[in-house]
Amino acid sequence: MKKIQFERAGLEVSNMCLGTMMFGTQVPVDVAEAELDLFLDMGGTFIDTSNNYAHWMPGASGDESEVLLGNWLAKRGCRDKIVLASKVGYDRHGEHQGLKASQIEYWCDESLRKLKTDYLDLYYAHVDDMDTPLEETMEAFDKLVKKGKVRALGVSNYYTWRICEAKHIAKANGYTDFTVNQPQYSFLYTKSGRASSTPLNLNAEDERLAYLKANNMPMVSYSCLAGGGYDDESRLPDKYVKDGRWDLLQKTAKELGLAPSELVLAWLMNSDKLPDRPTIVPLVASSRLAHLEKNLKMSEYELDVELMKTLCYSKF
Ligand SMILES: NC(=O)c1ccc[n+]([C@@H]2O[C@H](COP(=O)([O-])OP(=O)(O)OC[C@H]3O[C@@H](n4cnc5c(N)ncnc54)[C@H](OP(=O)(O)O)[C@@H]3O)[C@@H](O)[C@H]2O)c1
Repeated sequence: MKKIQFERAGLEVSNMCLGTMMFGTQVPVDVAEAELDLFLDMGGTFIDTSNNYAHWMPGASGDESEVLLGNWLAKRGCRDKIVLASKVGYDRHGEHQGLKASQIEYWCDESLRKLKTDYLDLYYAHVDDMDTPLEETMEAFDKLVKKGKVRALGVSNYYTWRICEAKHIAKANGYTDFTVNQPQYSFLYTKSGRASSTPLNLNAEDERLAYLKANNMPMVSYSCLAGGGYDDESRLPDKYVKDGRWDLLQKTAKELGLAPSELVLAWLMNSDKLPDRPTIVPLVASSRLAHLEKNLKMSEYELDVELMKTLCYSKF
């Protein structure tokens, strides 16, 4: 698989990131471990988890994904080959988990314990906590970097103006900045006023893409395959707008001999060929080994600039 640099974070990552949200709950341990082995064998290095995955599943604690990953890393002895990302700040068991200094400190130690490691390569603020001063949050994250528990910081589910505020606070105080963004982003737009009314599940729009490009900040895009809806329309969540972009995607995929989901992955990974688009690493997640293998094979697929322009800028 292709490797790319996250320059400001000082990380080299595979250009696809393995999403493990459902590992140990919906995806049984044996299948999850087979997916991790396949990912590693195919040259994948970048793995995404969180301190709360997947607490909403029946009977789950929210520790399942990190615990499974920790066991796998220990069994395979491959921690040094992996760029490991986790998150803090989202709900667990319906309790709000914010981004106060005490919460960041506590949950980082918990993630390290569950993952059986003494550092995270990338630690994300999972969702904005507007009740805690951003200064407190940034200082707490910075302390983790200074202690060597975390190598780089990322931000997920924040408005662009809040990412900007965080950047200014970090700069003014000499704190480590957020250098990677993980928003929801896919080929189809979402209906306005639904997914975008709060920073939770806020779909990245053109303004965000331009901001990230201008700040040399890569995007790790979640829900990029729209729940499997590109290849099986019955799975497409209601929040997506099925306008001319849907037809463009289906038509172009057919012309290229690709499945629509494969074209979406290629389109994301070719984004930075355009002057206003950042580097984008798709988060790939599946409960089926065959789907994962198909996805990972797209890692080096090239789309030419003219086609990228058509896919990005066509208006409907
Ligand atoms: N930061 C955040 O707030 C946040 C939120 C959500 C998710 N995430 C991260 O992003 C990852 C992905 O999230 P998501 O589940 O929402 O992603 P998604 O890309 O919208 O959907 C994944 C679904 O796509 C289907 N799929 C995958 N490959 C396919 C293929 N080749 N052909 C057809 N269908 C395919 C899978 O179905 P099958 O199982 O049938 O293959 C799976 O259910 C998570 O694991 C997590 O790491 C982060």
